[in-house]
Amino acid sequence: MKIIPGPASLELGEKIARLANMEKIDVSHRTFPDGESYIRLMGNVQDEHAVIVQTTCAPQDTRLMQLGFIASAAKRNGAQKVTAVVPYLAYARQDKTFLQGENVSIETISAMLKTAGIDDLITINIHSENALRFFPFPTKNLSAISLLAEYFVEKGFQKAFALAPDKGAMYIAEQAQKILGGDAGHLEKRRDRYTGQTIQSVSNLDIKGEVVIIFDDIISTGGTIVGAAKILRDLGAAKIFASCVHPLLIGDAEKRMLDAGVAEIVGTDSVPSNTSQVTLAPMIARELQALESG
Ligand code: R5P
Repeated sequence: MKIIPGPASLELGEKIARLANMEKIDVSHRTFPDGESYIRLMGNVQDEHAVIVQTTCAPQDTRLMQLGFIASAAKRNGAQKVTAVVPYLAYARQDKTFLQGENVSIETISAMLKTAGIDDLITINIHSENALRFFPFPTKNLSAISLLAEYFVEKGFQKAFALAPDKGAMYIAEQAQKILGGDAGHLEKRRDRYTGQTIQSVSNLDIKGEVVIIFDDIISTGGTIVGAAKILRDLGAAKIFASCVHPLLIGDAEKRMLDAGVAEIVGTDSVPSNTSQVTLAPMIARELQALESG
């Protein structure tokens, strides 16, 4: 097995190669003046199982093309198998049509990755497991929630309240609760499919005086966390944290959440950011070692 850290996950890929004790192959890449991507493998993958580590956060389309180009280069250069480790898998939120005339984005992406030469895929906390059923090759979805919860335990916040910002994320809060050992619950969130606006509300949540950690898979604009923080403040939370696997943090998301009273935002290096306090490298390295030893 050889690890190919893609341009979007250089550090994570290098860490994984080091921890798994596997050879690393560099990628030379550049962007042409018109925006097109160029990649070149700088090592030998002949008869190898090549593992590409490439997240697909913004600019998503470029990251996906780079991933496809690396996979295709690996196959052209004799790799017998190509595994893609894609910590944040873009377009997984459009795993069905909501309005007539839409497409299922993740279906198209999965077909493109197959065509590029990818044989199987490992991802972390995909937004919806349902998205994986479109993939025409084996997939594995790992969860990093316990790692995030462990971060808070190490900081001394055992028994903190694990909160999901909506019912759909309750399974995330429950995974965190197992590590934190406190209570868990969720808010309500509805999205208007025409305007994209969300409406958040609460029913039956007793968190007065508690330390509350909001757990989500993704923080994008921070709007969900800002809305949740306001509700939690009104309910009398003593301290509010926000934690996610994929800190996309678009624009001034971080500042907006801090201004809303969030004490700290903690993410993973699925998406490199200054909130990426928790690394996925040991978990992925273990998974690859298990895959290698069959
Ligand atoms: C949606 O259901 C996801 O789990 C996140 O809650 C959402 O993507 C967060 O987006 P934003 O930070 O823009 O509110």
